[in-house]
Amino acid sequence: QVFRIEDYRPSDYLIPQTGLTFALAPEETIVTAQLEIERREGVAPGTPLRLEGDELALLGVAVDGEPLDASAYEATSQLLSIPRPPRSSRFTLTLVTKVDPSRNSSLMGLFRSNGVYCTQCEPEGFRRITYFVDRPDMLSVYTVRVEAGEDEAPILLSNGNLVETGKLERGRHFAVWHDPFPKPSYLFALVAGDLAVLHDEFITASGRKVALGIHVEHGKKERASYAMDALKRSMKWDEDIFGLEYDLDVFNIVAVSDFNMGAMENKGLNVFNDKYVLADEATATDADFANIEAIIAHEYFHNWTGNRITCRDWFQLCLKEGLTVFRDHEFSADQRSRAVKRIAEVRTLRAHQFPEDQGPLAHPVRPRRYREINNFYTATVYEKGSEVVRMIRTILGPDDFRKGMNLYITRHDGDAATIEDFVKAFEDASGKDLSQFALWYHQAGTPNLSVSTAHDAERGEFRIEIEQSVPPTPSESRKRLMHIPLAFGLVGPDGNDMQPAAVDGATVEDGVIHLKKRRHVVRFQGVKERPSLSLNRGFSAPITLSVEQKPEDLLFLARKDSDLVARWQASTTLFTQALIQGFRAVRGQKQAVFDDALVEAIGEIAADASLEPAYRALALTLPAEADIAREIGSHIDPDAIFIAREALSQAIAQRNAGVFATLYEGLDGGAAFSPDAESAGRRALRNVLLDYLAVGEGAPDLAVRQFETATNMTDRAAALTVLAHKFSGHEKSVAALASFENQYGDDPLVMDKWYQTQATVPGAGAVDLVRSLTRHRGFSLSNPNRVRALIGTFSTMNQTGFHRADGAGYRFFAETVLEIEKRNPQVAARLATALRSWRSLEPTRQAAARDALLSIAAPENLSSDLRDIIERTLA
Ligand code: ARG
Ligand code: ZN
Repeated sequence: QVFRIEDYRPSDYLIPQTGLTFALAPEETIVTAQLEIERREGVAPGTPLRLEGDELALLGVAVDGEPLDASAYEATSQLLSIPRPPRSSRFTLTLVTKVDPSRNSSLMGLFRSNGVYCTQCEPEGFRRITYFVDRPDMLSVYTVRVEAGEDEAPILLSNGNLVETGKLERGRHFAVWHDPFPKPSYLFALVAGDLAVLHDEFITASGRKVALGIHVEHGKKERASYAMDALKRSMKWDEDIFGLEYDLDVFNIVAVSDFNMGAMENKGLNVFNDKYVLADEATATDADFANIEAIIAHEYFHNWTGNRITCRDWFQLCLKEGLTVFRDHEFSADQRSRAVKRIAEVRTLRAHQFPEDQGPLAHPVRPRRYREINNFYTATVYEKGSEVVRMIRTILGPDDFRKGMNLYITRHDGDAATIEDFVKAFEDASGKDLSQFALWYHQAGTPNLSVSTAHDAERGEFRIEIEQSVPPTPSESRKRLMHIPLAFGLVGPDGNDMQPAAVDGATVEDGVIHLKKRRHVVRFQGVKERPSLSLNRGFSAPITLSVEQKPEDLLFLARKDSDLVARWQASTTLFTQALIQGFRAVRGQKQAVFDDALVEAIGEIAADASLEPAYRALALTLPAEADIAREIGSHIDPDAIFIAREALSQAIAQRNAGVFATLYEGLDGGAAFSPDAESAGRRALRNVLLDYLAVGEGAPDLAVRQFETATNMTDRAAALTVLAHKFSGHEKSVAALASFENQYGDDPLVMDKWYQTQATVPGAGAVDLVRSLTRHRGFSLSNPNRVRALIGTFSTMNQTGFHRADGAGYRFFAETVLEIEKRNPQVAARLATALRSWRSLEPTRQAAARDALLSIAAPENLSSDLRDIIERTLA
């Protein structure tokens, strides 16, 4: 079944009030739903009522308290239909359903994770709990009574505020929760179990006292303190920056160990993958701390952008997700180094969204059709969706952007809104026309700008010629011209920006060229000396650039550009060009050779104390093999890419060995651990240097020393990775892996790092290694974190192992995906996207990848999740 945006129409019935009672039991939970149903004005009395279900067993139906005769309704596990409901405009429908949380391995609806009852309803999980008009525009006020055994579940939670608790017979107890804010069913949540609680408190700007609680497994309370700190900072930040305050008396977070995604923003009761809550220096890396901060903020920010204002239908997913990602990006930028954060965002977007936009799964930020909505929680909706909001801010400027946000929120508070509503608020607040700009929501594909420049010294004129094009994507062959805000700078020979006036060609405002036509020629006058052109500063638009640029100019920008994002881009472009040349050489049986000036400049950047260490770490990191593959575009041979990249890494290491070693020793922390961005930046730089230093004689020794003396997980895991990847099979590498397993064998989240490290060991041997790890005692195909750590990492990060020329990597992958899909279709479908770029491989691998895709498609009873991904990938 295909769902289309143009088919939207309001439902015939509304459900202003929803009462739920859960009699929790591991295998047989009874749910009694009391739905206050209201016929929408203008709908004919007696219009049939249809409610969605999913794998439900119906035990009873009553209308206005009277049991309904079996002939008066039709019920399947997927649908409850009442052909002749009461003709009155309001009536009560009581439904009793039975569900089995213990056998729910899809982790949608009500399930159990390590004995804890837990729900996940977004997008369509509520219908696995009771029959309902399960769509995001069906706003209802919920009152929820939870009953369970006191021993099994001392903690009983749901949305909103706690209104009553009490004891029942046979060792059971109950709690009643009431959420005064009307909300869609996807924001419903229930948690019940035996959990430890970290308590705290936040006082909002207007003086409301909010009780905060983070619920985790017993013994892990201390590991939740960083998340609590991040939560309080998020609450304060949203007040300061957007004037948005929290609105209930309690805010609870629960960490569970089986979860399909990162986390979920249920009203007043966020549920998290424990990976994004639990952290301390001994078990979490700096990347883990940064992710926790970002995701805690993200889910909290949804309280306004997602919950108070929700989506009319799932086509509008980016309305809440793109905006909320933008908000969490800005939060992290304010908490950390803005430039470093922005570079990390650019890297993520390129690594995840660009291949999506450039492959068979491409779709607009606001899709127009879907078969399985679960498959649209994508980098395009989230990350590109955030970039679109950022561009609105660039076009409007910060003041009008804030006015637009205020207008959007006051105008739509309590609504299920659309992207049109959102854009209109910014148009009305600023008086600007965003109709051409709105194409960013509706048109898939990554726009490309082709740029050339000319300098006329005599006339003092500098010209930039820019042409835009948007490549075709599935079902959109012709594209319209976009409004692209391109930030730029003309960098003079002294490294300072020139400030010439543009005479014509396009609107140039505050260092941004507004491209709206196919071709623009922008002329600047009073430019005596030829500038170096710094483009897409701050990554102002999510585009690709084709620029004719001299290597000297790029080297100059890599040293001098005042915009750190563009400066980092210059060194990345230089690396990429060198690596592509290296790749061509390797393919032609020649040795890859690299420009001395580049190799030398890297040493200079490494030692430049005027740059923050975190920036230097990024500037020293070579593009990943997958990045290089994407830039090459077609006929990909991952082995040749690997060889070229290793050669460049070694050339840099040899040329700069002395500088790197001195720097490495000088960065030795020593001081007490702190997770702050500056300390993390020093560790990042030191660990990049360790990687370069692990070549030549006595090579593993430095890594062994760091592994043995590390006082935090960031340094320990980095050393382990160097040993496992560069010295695979070496006794010192084997010993380090064994010691790590010995120390952390009982801590699944830490063991995920151990799986990840081995899943990325380069070379043909990885397939057998990963296969054998699926039988490791700590591994389970039923736990999404384990699956992602081992199988997900192998298929997306191990280019030489996964893409083994004989296809063994693909065959193992296909088998495993089918095993996982029996348990959890959503996780299997997500995993299967690893093959989306199969058409850019060289012919032998391409054929093997296609066979693997066909073998995944073969079973007849494939889930709609996996079938949708595979069919679009093969189309
Ligand atoms: N709304 C959640 C978030 O972004 C994601 C939940 C998606 N869940 C799913 N099963 N598709 O924070
Ligand atoms: Zn979200």
